[in-house]
Amino acid sequence: MLSILHELNDRLKVALGQAFPAAAAAAEAEGSALDAQLGPASKPEFGDFQANGALALAKRLGMQPRVIATALVEKLEAAAGFSDLCERPQIAGPGFINLTIKPERLAAEVASRLQDPRLGVSSAAEESEAQGRGLAPVIVDFSSPNIAKEMHVGHLRSTIIGDSLARVLEFRGYQVLRLNHVGDWGTQFGMLITHLKQVAPEALSTADAVDLGDLVAFYRQAKQRFDSDEAFQSTAREEVVRLQGGDPVSLKAWHLLCAQSRREFQQLYDRLDISLNERGESFYNPLLAAVVADLEASGLLVSDGGAQCVFLEESSAHKLPPVIVQKSDGGFNYATTDLAAIRYRFAAPPAGDAARRVIYVTDAGQASHFAGVFQVARRAGWIPADGRLEHVPFGLVQGEDGKKLKTRSGDTVRLKDLLDEAVERSEADLRRRLQEEQRSESEEFIQQVANTVGLAAVKYADLSQNRITNYQFSFARMLALQGNTAPYLLYALVRIAGIARKGGDAGVIGDAGNTGDAGNTRDSNQITGLFSKLQFHEPQEWALVRHLLGFDAVIAEVEEELLPNRLCSYLFELSQVFNRFYDQVPVLKAPPEARNSRLALCRLTADTLKLGLGLLGIPTLERM
Ligand code: ARG
Repeated sequence: MLSILHELNDRLKVALGQAFPAAAAAAEAEGSALDAQLGPASKPEFGDFQANGALALAKRLGMQPRVIATALVEKLEAAAGFSDLCERPQIAGPGFINLTIKPERLAAEVASRLQDPRLGVSSAAEESEAQGRGLAPVIVDFSSPNIAKEMHVGHLRSTIIGDSLARVLEFRGYQVLRLNHVGDWGTQFGMLITHLKQVAPEALSTADAVDLGDLVAFYRQAKQRFDSDEAFQSTAREEVVRLQGGDPVSLKAWHLLCAQSRREFQQLYDRLDISLNERGESFYNPLLAAVVADLEASGLLVSDGGAQCVFLEESSAHKLPPVIVQKSDGGFNYATTDLAAIRYRFAAPPAGDAARRVIYVTDAGQASHFAGVFQVARRAGWIPADGRLEHVPFGLVQGEDGKKLKTRSGDTVRLKDLLDEAVERSEADLRRRLQEEQRSESEEFIQQVANTVGLAAVKYADLSQNRITNYQFSFARMLALQGNTAPYLLYALVRIAGIARKGGDAGVIGDAGNTGDAGNTRDSNQITGLFSKLQFHEPQEWALVRHLLGFDAVIAEVEEELLPNRLCSYLFELSQVFNRFYDQVPVLKAPPEARNSRLALCRLTADTLKLGLGLLGIPTLERM
């Protein structure tokens, strides 16, 4: 209902100007405006929206809030078209104005969404085009595992949350750069390359890709030798220097190690249907010296015991340690690379991305790292006035015992095993259910449903938590058919789409609940005719209408606050509101007029669930 909110806000502005011309003009001269403080109603019994501005304006206008509210309402009601939009406004308490949208207007809004593949969500791309200005790209820096090291559950969280944020921003029309800031540089390559040269020298002399096998095991072996063998250690140190100096053999070894890691990561991304562009730390190597020079020139750099650092301005909450940009041995840090990345991301092309919003999805443990580098970048003048830098932190993944997630034998959990287990368990659940329901399905069906549900459960369990808190990983909970889970929502969608389809068999409504995009390409003429006379009477119908129309506001909230769990809660509540409606109001057996309107609600509910799940990166099913 954002478009209605904007329309009301515009009307309130006009009414304020008419009721209090002198004060409005004075505000305008100051470059501001009188504000009616319009927002969603705090309780359903107050209507749809409330305007609280009369209270704040009392002092400025030297009048009682209720007097202000009364004058405002009078102007609102006198304006052309207001009575088509709103019921008579109610003044409540000390001077709140409660506003209820006319049923006809809400019904018309439902009808228009049924023909709109965007379901009422406006496109930032179209808006900026209409205003004749360009839309800057948004960067989401997520996943970002480290080469040759374990990709752990923290990276999985980043991958899932980052992908969903990117999907929401893309849907809003932004060009999103999905950047995988992999850790592909650093002193660990000294020991890895030394080990590689010794155990698989043939890899360096053939043109073909050599399978280096399990890189995590490889890393462990290299590390063990590094820790126990002094000769190995000094060779490894020399190797770091060679690599940094651009020695071709060392570089080839480095490339091989990165390629091997990339293949392993890619399997996981493919499985989860996640696309990412790799731009690892090494990309910024040539830019590091300029970062230090720039900081030096702006007077931010302080030499501290041979290291070059920037001391941070005290933030209100806590004192942050200085950001070390160059160590006393001349080496650069993780922070230096991030500074170079920030500088590049905001800079104009060709040597930059020209982004205006850069989002980092990592565990909360990196919060002070980002607070530090953001501050340094800002003080260095690399962030344009309209540029936004945001760290999106998330909590730890814990086992059901509340401790760090581990396998039964105490090892770290491999992500592949974790996804395999989710799919296996979902398959077992499905087979049990089929047996109970005495259904027989093809093996292909079972595999497909088990795979979709298993992976969806892992994603949704992660996304539905408030990401800031630690989260307890539980297969049983995430795969449950009841509660705020992926299986519950997928099942609700199957059922609702089925109802809409059943109604449609009589030729009334086209097919809803297709997978793929087919659900959105419908014969709009047919639908316009059909849904032009939507009528709702029952409170359960209105509750569902209002919830459905709240979809655009939720998307706007996720875009702003970067909290996918808001979308999850919305979808979960939607299916509950739907269930109440469907349990208490006849649909398929209703008289024709009511039946059409109710089927329209089924259809829009199915469309909304499907689009919403899609934005969470969760594909839907036709049957399960
Ligand atoms: N590779 C890092 C890690 O595994 C995460 C990188 C996050 N992105 C960034 N620009 N620092 O912890």
